[in-house]
Amino acid sequence: MVWHLPLTGRLMQRSGVRIAILIIALMLAVAGAWEVYRTLAKDHVPTDATAQFLAQYWAHPLAPQGEPPPGFSSLEASLAPESCGACHPEQYADWRTSLHSHSIGPGMLWQFRVLSQDESNSCLRCHAPLAEQKALMALQQGWTNAPKTPAPAYVSSDLHLRGLVCAACHVRRHQRYGPPADKPNAQDAQNPAPATGQPHNGFIAERAFQDSRFCATCHQFPPQGRSLAGKLVENTYEEWRTSLAAGQGLACQNCHMPGKRHLWRGIHDRTMVDKGLRREMIIKRISASRLAVQAIITAPGVGHYFPTYVVPKVTVTLELRNSAGTREIARHVIGRTVSVDMDRELSDTRIPPGGNSVVSAEVTVPPGANYIEMRMDIAPAEHYVRMFESMLERNPKMDPATQSMLREAIQKAEATAYRLDDLVVAVPARLGESQHAVAN
Ligand code: HEC
Ligand code: HEC
Ligand code: HEC
Ligand code: HEC
Ligand code: HEC
Repeated sequence: MVWHLPLTGRLMQRSGVRIAILIIALMLAVAGAWEVYRTLAKDHVPTDATAQFLAQYWAHPLAPQGEPPPGFSSLEASLAPESCGACHPEQYADWRTSLHSHSIGPGMLWQFRVLSQDESNSCLRCHAPLAEQKALMALQQGWTNAPKTPAPAYVSSDLHLRGLVCAACHVRRHQRYGPPADKPNAQDAQNPAPATGQPHNGFIAERAFQDSRFCATCHQFPPQGRSLAGKLVENTYEEWRTSLAAGQGLACQNCHMPGKRHLWRGIHDRTMVDKGLRREMIIKRISASRLAVQAIITAPGVGHYFPTYVVPKVTVTLELRNSAGTREIARHVIGRTVSVDMDRELSDTRIPPGGNSVVSAEVTVPPGANYIEMRMDIAPAEHYVRMFESMLERNPKMDPATQSMLREAIQKAEATAYRLDDLVVAVPARLGESQHAVAN
């Protein structure tokens, strides 16, 4: 028997929480966008095989897996990531450290307490997309449209809290799909039929797994999606398409899954960001006591805008350091800042592919040893910190359970901040002389 799964539900508001209206207004922008996308996808018949495959593979809402094929052991039928991990330990170990495995946390859960089931399902589309995950979430949240029968054995009880699980990317109706194997003689695109006799009847090899469009399903809004100042709020795939990286044949997977590893490092990771950037500082003595300082930041290792989303902010600070102490001489924020209600763009100073960000200052220096320091502070979740804090402030009567989740979400978002290694340059002694330093 197929587990009966809820995919819709009527709007339900909890405990009279007023902020619901606010968040709904904010988030429907996302949900609405995908409704349009679905209609569009129906009218628009993709031409090449990869696009055709992906349109079906990611057609939302994803269908329930249904009854496992006869002969599947309970391990083969299981959708739990640790079951996959029993035979694919490397992918499992990597995935556990990735943000894809943390895409359901307090930052999502507090919002589900005030959103309707439909609205929450529109979030789960990207954050925990399996039909079985939506069903478990419906049970946990007490949504009206929840399954009436217990979950079948292949649905582990915490699957909805595990985020973007292996099965969401690799399993449809209990059939495994994956990239063509590298090894000769292994099953490949020439032999795409599932093989019996192998665990989970082998897999169907699909080149789509190595195509950036595989990722675009969640990392790109459709053309009619939410825009601010004439630019889509999520536009990573389109940014990538016009980048030098795309021209060189580097797909999202080449940078974010090198060696097919399941790490998906991004703005939250110091090493990834450091490798993606080139930071240069030039200091010139323009008079006996004055300096011209210039910092130039480019992003040659990034395949889209740096950063791509409205969420992170990067602060560049230039400081003068000497025996008298440290003094800030310039500060510049790199990022796309939008209002907490996501109805206005406040600024967009991101570095486009091939572009740069220049911070300059002139400063008077005392005699003696002087240094200029370039600092770079990364706040990967700046928008959420600001938005969540404003929610708390504007809704003092929020129920205590939601409030404590929201506070936890703020703490977690703040804790993602870090600093790259400083670039420090000794000030040139003689007039006309310049000093120069580069990181990467
Ligand atoms: C009982 C062991 C076992 C379990 C459990 C298992 N797999 Fe596999 N899987 C294999 C083996 C063995 C292969 C190799 C087939 C080959 O290379 O021809 C494979 C192949 C694959 C491939 C294709 C790899 C490629 O080269 O493209 C994918 C994707 C995959 N499994 C995903 C999963 C996922 C997701 C789960 C959990 C939902 C899972 N597997 C559970 C044993 C297992
Ligand atoms: C966000 C989607 C996504 C998730 C989640 C995901 N994978 Fe993958 N997986 C991919 C893509 C894309 C590739 C192909 C990468 C490439 O070929 O460059 C891949 C490749 C693989 C392969 C083939 C590796 C090889 O060396 O041939 C296996 C096996 C696999 N995944 C298993 C898993 C398991 C197990 C999990 C969970 C622990 C998992 N995947 C989670 C997208 C995903
Ligand atoms: C089913 C939707 C979905 C698919 C498919 C998907 N992602 Fe994601 N991805 C997400 C979500 C949701 C997050 C945010 C997780 C969080 O922080 O809660 C994320 C986060 C990331 C991050 C982390 C960014 C950071 O802030 O550091 C990277 C990198 C990333 N994805 C790359 C990829 C690549 C590359 C692919 C294609 C192989 C891919 N994703 C496919 C939904 C998806
Ligand atoms: C089109 C795919 C998509 C949809 C739909 C979507 N998200 Fe996300 N979400 C993402 C991606 C991608 C990220 C990672 C952004 C980054 O790394 O900067 C993310 C990050 C987040 C984060 C910060 C990370 C975390 O886990 O705390 C929150 C909170 C969040 N989304 C909430 C929501 C809510 C609430 C909804 C529904 C109203 C929603 N999202 C709908 C793709 C999506
Ligand atoms: C040339 C390498 C490269 C390519 C290609 C690339 N990225 Fe990135 N990506 C990076 C680096 C480096 C970072 C970290 C700096 C940053 O955040 O921009 C990053 C960051 C991210 C982030 C973190 C969020 C943010 O606001 O920056 C996401 C999500 C992401 N990439 C998704 C994708 C997707 C989806 C694709 C394909 C359409 C892609 N990337 C292609 C190198 C690449």
